Amino acid sequence: MTDNLTCRLAVLVSGSGTNLQAIIDSIEAGDIDATIACVISNKRDVFALERAAKHGITVVVHENSGFANRQEYDLATVEILRQYGVNLVVLAGFMRILTENMINAFPNAIINIHPALLPSFPGLHAQQQAIDYGVRYSGCTVHFVDCGTDTGPIILQSVVPVDANDTEETLSAKIQKEEHRIYPAAIKLFVDGKIKVKGRKVLITD
Ligand code: GRF
Repeated sequence: MTDNLTCRLAVLVSGSGTNLQAIIDSIEAGDIDATIACVISNKRDVFALERAAKHGITVVVHENSGFANRQEYDLATVEILRQYGVNLVVLAGFMRILTENMINAFPNAIINIHPALLPSFPGLHAQQQAIDYGVRYSGCTVHFVDCGTDTGPIILQSVVPVDANDTEETLSAKIQKEEHRIYPAAIKLFVDGKIKVKGRKVLITD
């Protein structure tokens, strides 16, 4: 955000919401000058919704039933986001692939966190993919969302070592610790207007 208005975030979730929690905590601690306008979940009964409600944040359950296809679902999502005056869309474990209807409505204003060092290991089970490949290091990536799967310009990354005895669970736990650090940090950069996108590259200014 380059003006003086408070940035209004929407956090889109499908699961436990530990990243949502890290974002809420950073905002409540005064580290990020933003408001969570709403938390949107494509599933009811997920713990992320409880987390949001506990902090008095508006929750919207937006299930895919009743929509003919992903495009129509996304048009409805855009309507919700407009209704809440959202400036930045934060995907935090949102288990749906976005269509052009969403991407084009929020150019360079949708971000995601992925549990691997992109462009390695996009898609599902990134931690298991990293273990199976035998890499010594993996980590997490915050990136803008484009029409590909985990292909958008990279904002921040953090590296964690992969040990010989790591399982999907233990590696995920190490990576999540870093996710909870770099996702709020990336949001802060965006909110403070310190990010510029030039083609594939994200320039971070001081
Ligand atoms: C995280 O591992 C994130 O990298 C991936 O989905 C997971 C969400 O976890 N995109 P949580 O719901 O934030 O705990």
